Amino acid sequence: MKSSYVIFALFATAVLSATAAQAESKGEQIFKQKCNMCHVVNGKGGQIGPELTKIAASMKEVEIRSQLENPKKRNPATSMPSFKSLPKPEMEALLGYLKTLK
Ligand code: HEC
Repeated sequence: MKSSYVIFALFATAVLSATAAQAESKGEQIFKQKCNMCHVVNGKGGQIGPELTKIAASMKEVEIRSQLENPKKRNPATSMPSFKSLPKPEMEALLGYLKTLK
């Protein structure tokens, strides 16, 4: 009886910590899928756009949001696509991740 409780407790801990790690990196996962091919963060990524490793130090959240939803606003000739169609929770997760880059 006692040992099955221990096994259950270990299992529950493993599941909980796996969930927490996933929640932390959702924005980072989206970044790797949609942005990484053009932007370098921490030494990895493409060279088409500027490096974003410290983007939160130079751009406010509203400015980053505007850049993502309407990149042509700042530069009508930009090659960056609009991410306006990104589902809201994904956009928020992505912005949450970008805010940590400073
Ligand atoms: C096809 C390549 C491409 C993709 C994909 C792309 N970008 Fe960009 N991005 C650019 C380019 C090029 C610029 C330079 C701005 C310009 O063209 O005016 C830029 C600019 C930016 C800037 C402003 C940086 C600065 O220092 O002014 C931010 C923030 C940014 N991108 C975030 C993102 C994020 C987040 C994603 C993914 C959701 C993404 N970009 C996807 C090409 C891309």
